[in-house]
Amino acid sequence: MNFLFSLQRRGRACGLAILIALAGSVAPGAGAREPLAPGPWWQHAVIYEIYVRSFQDSNGDGIGDLKGITQRLDYLQELGVDALWLTPFFPSPNFDFGYDVSDYTDVSPEYGSLADWDELVREADRRGIRILVDFVLNHTSDQHAWFRAARSARDNPKRDWYVWRKGSSDGGPPNHWQSIFGGPAWTLDPASGEWYYHIFLPQQPDVNWNNPQLRAAMFEVAGFWLRRGAAGFRLDATPYLVEDPAFPDDPHPESGPPVWLKPYNSGRPETHEVLRQLRAVLGGFAGDPVLLGESATANIAELAAVYGKNHDEIQLPMNFLIGNLQALDAPTFKRQIDDAQLKLGGQTPVFFLSSHDHSRQWSAFGDGTHNDQIAKLTASLTLAPRGTALLYYGEELGMGDLPPQELAQARIGPKRPRADERDRARSPMQWTGASGVGFSSAPAWLPAARAAATYNVAAERADPDSILHWYGALIRLRHEDPAFASGSYLPLETGNAQTLAFARMSADGSGAVVALNASAQEQELRITGLPAHAQLREVILSSPAAHAPAGATLRLAPYGVAIVRLVAP
Ligand code: GLC
Ligand code: CA
Repeated sequence: MNFLFSLQRRGRACGLAILIALAGSVAPGAGAREPLAPGPWWQHAVIYEIYVRSFQDSNGDGIGDLKGITQRLDYLQELGVDALWLTPFFPSPNFDFGYDVSDYTDVSPEYGSLADWDELVREADRRGIRILVDFVLNHTSDQHAWFRAARSARDNPKRDWYVWRKGSSDGGPPNHWQSIFGGPAWTLDPASGEWYYHIFLPQQPDVNWNNPQLRAAMFEVAGFWLRRGAAGFRLDATPYLVEDPAFPDDPHPESGPPVWLKPYNSGRPETHEVLRQLRAVLGGFAGDPVLLGESATANIAELAAVYGKNHDEIQLPMNFLIGNLQALDAPTFKRQIDDAQLKLGGQTPVFFLSSHDHSRQWSAFGDGTHNDQIAKLTASLTLAPRGTALLYYGEELGMGDLPPQELAQARIGPKRPRADERDRARSPMQWTGASGVGFSSAPAWLPAARAAATYNVAAERADPDSILHWYGALIRLRHEDPAFASGSYLPLETGNAQTLAFARMSADGSGAVVALNASAQEQELRITGLPAHAQLREVILSSPAAHAPAGATLRLAPYGVAIVRLVAP
């Protein structure tokens, strides 16, 4: 299968031509790619999420760290990613592995030091890679100095930095709201007799964004990391920043919307002001810093609202309407991708299918027979549409979930006696097939997947037909082919509900058609919806190798993907 090699050769030649043409112009970092597309970098970026604990251990304690990431930057540059989102690496008692922050402006010793952060930023910049910090702004750890002060006395000045209420008349919690992690969303503070609110664990008290001092302190945290070289933030749990001020009782929390989408605990209108102010903080910094939001919504209209009425809030809200899909159903994906393109007011959609909270896509969408081919198909769903693509470390290898039996046996540490179900997608990055998988010289905090013997960077580099090479080819297309770098999105019909297709169009009417078969049978597609007289030409990238189209008709193998050049009349 030489399609990948031919694309790679084309890519290198093309990249060189661009370099020569632009010699002498000022680049943001010595290794930065000169973008083919206009507009800020994040509008067409590939952002790669690293679960810091699991990517690369540099000091032999079995826990990934910042220095480990620095050691692996060449790999990330070779893959072609534009930015990294690092999961929280701040001091934390680790009840939720760093999502319970006890100090926002330091690095946890298990992940390194501020000096390691500085070095990572410097080395990443040399390679044209930006870094987003995970900003957990809905809650702190209950060990954070702010909460310790708040808890110390009812009249402590920081008391109001958190959400306190009196219990109900029967001595129970203030209302029946439930937490996303299970159990009541309130915990009693016996000393004061009041309850504090937490949408997640009791060790993660929600802060009170209505308090101006808290707000200022949080914005100061943002400034700290921006001054220290962050290119922006992934914002944790943005729907939950503000609660309904009436705290209405929910006598039947089990009915109605799921607990993470209740009208009283999420998506409150007051949140817009907070996010506008945070965005304004970013506006004071050079380099187009960005907010990538963990912005779960119930529908596309709500997602559109997250960008802000005047597009002055979160530039990149993650699209959970697609990210949460668990079945490979072509009409559903088509509808959701079309919506993301056409119903977000022209804003940048954010596509992802895996994260540290999700099952890995190789496992979620695999049918047990065609998993590798399906992984290439789902990669195309994330990387080929117009928008920003979010990858999760190891998805480019076809890493799968740890099986439940192995998770059940994993011993994780004093705070987490048992593995969290989500730890299935957090096993060590598979660098090699050796024991230890190239992650650490010590036993890793979580065992590596057994499939690491086959699915690893070293083996896949050597195999031109690997999932890794497919990702590399798609990312290169985004950077080097004008239709993918900056082209618009055109929805297409295929006359076949097992398949879907869309086009990426350059201003001159040329472009490319992306066609996918989401079934285990060969399928025929008759493409309609193309501009008049536009013609399908050669296949520029496909897996498995596809024949050139006959007119507007294409045949695709089971779970096949073909990207076909489209020429203007
Ligand atoms: C977000 C994070 C998740 C964490 C939760 C609480 O959903 O992605 O991992 O547990 O927030 O901070
Ligand atoms: Ca380590």
